[in-house]
Amino acid sequence: MWIILVAFFCLPLKFVDVQAGLISYDGHEVIRTYPADQEQMQMLGKLRENFDFWSEPKIGGPTDIRVGGNRKTMLRNFLKQKGIKYDVYISDLQDRISREREQLKRSNTMDWTSYHSASDINMWLESLAFNYPDIATVYDIGTSTEGRPIRLIHIGIPRTSGPLKQGYWIDGGMHAREWVGPAVATWVINELVTNSDQYQDMLTEIDFYIVPIVNVDGYEYSRTKDRLWRKTRSNHKSRAGCLGVDPNRNFDYFWGGEGTSSDKCSEIYKGPTPFSEPETAAMRDYITKISGKTVNWVTYIALHSYAQMILTPWGYETNLYPEDYAELKQVADEAASALTACYGTHYDVGAAGTILYPAAGASDDWSKGSGYFRLVYTFEVRDTGRYGFLLPADQIIPTAIETWAALKVFGRHMTEKK
Ligand code: ARG
Ligand code: ZN
Repeated sequence: MWIILVAFFCLPLKFVDVQAGLISYDGHEVIRTYPADQEQMQMLGKLRENFDFWSEPKIGGPTDIRVGGNRKTMLRNFLKQKGIKYDVYISDLQDRISREREQLKRSNTMDWTSYHSASDINMWLESLAFNYPDIATVYDIGTSTEGRPIRLIHIGIPRTSGPLKQGYWIDGGMHAREWVGPAVATWVINELVTNSDQYQDMLTEIDFYIVPIVNVDGYEYSRTKDRLWRKTRSNHKSRAGCLGVDPNRNFDYFWGGEGTSSDKCSEIYKGPTPFSEPETAAMRDYITKISGKTVNWVTYIALHSYAQMILTPWGYETNLYPEDYAELKQVADEAASALTACYGTHYDVGAAGTILYPAAGASDDWSKGSGYFRLVYTFEVRDTGRYGFLLPADQIIPTAIETWAALKVFGRHMTEKK
């Protein structure tokens, strides 16, 4: 009996297709829920620890949850019992993953019509810096758990005298499966470096520091083994064999607070200690090391997907705002209108913990709370769930163009404010 019980509960929620070593999501679906009020959002928030949420609980929804196997009925019963409205949003998940896989073309030349491997992106960064040595330099700011370089590119026109330049940080790929983040980050890098003559004003005043793939191991794992992997790939000796930490719960600002988990198998596992992950520690070390010495940090942007939102701090608690929220919000609204002006894509703007269910230990709150950065935002880029994480590659360029329109607003704000 015990064996049966244990087997039942420990049954992996994903099944490995032995032949290809690929995880299969056969029979899995994405349920779209519509929590009507604070109370229903709280109830969904409780599930956050043990289910795979594709979007954060938010009043009114939609809040998307992936579920498979016997947990399908469990989830439906829970939602019915709590009176939370829902529908089945994606019923052919594995088909979609397989179709996307067929289109993953192997290439080692960079473009923005397909998603690229970490090693291709890293090689491309190196060659870009080699070809534009006057404005671009590549640094490896750390090494991931599996030994991959965490690569940063520094872009700007060097200043030999006068005050320190203002720093503008952008990272992508903190969450492995959010492939469009690294794609947008590399597009922005390419735009700044190869069309630098169009950005002379910005590049003389601002230094950009861009890490297109923070969670390199997770990103590779999501390309080669499990398309829906989110966390890092570190091993913190879980008895059930679960790997990885949610890097966006691993930063040392209200670490372990609301919206985080101590369960090593959870998608929102905070890690054994703050900055336990080499990837988040590398960010902290680099940001703190050069602050006030070679740069005056101003803007921090994290690129995530999906939701179409610009989120401000604070994210760790509801109805809590930094003292300069009015300015943060005003600039973000301006950025969102610039974005919408491109293709009509609608974005919501607000404090993360208020317009979404709170989540502590994220990079945005740390960047703001540590005092290193002033203009701090998390972007949740396209889409709103039609494709979700499986955003077709033909949307990379429009997503990048509209996101860049928004990111430039922060740049302009920095050069004008000066
Ligand atoms: N989807 C992001 C995450 O779960 C949202 C983070 C927003 N920021 C925050 N501090 N809660 O990591
Ligand atoms: Zn994310």
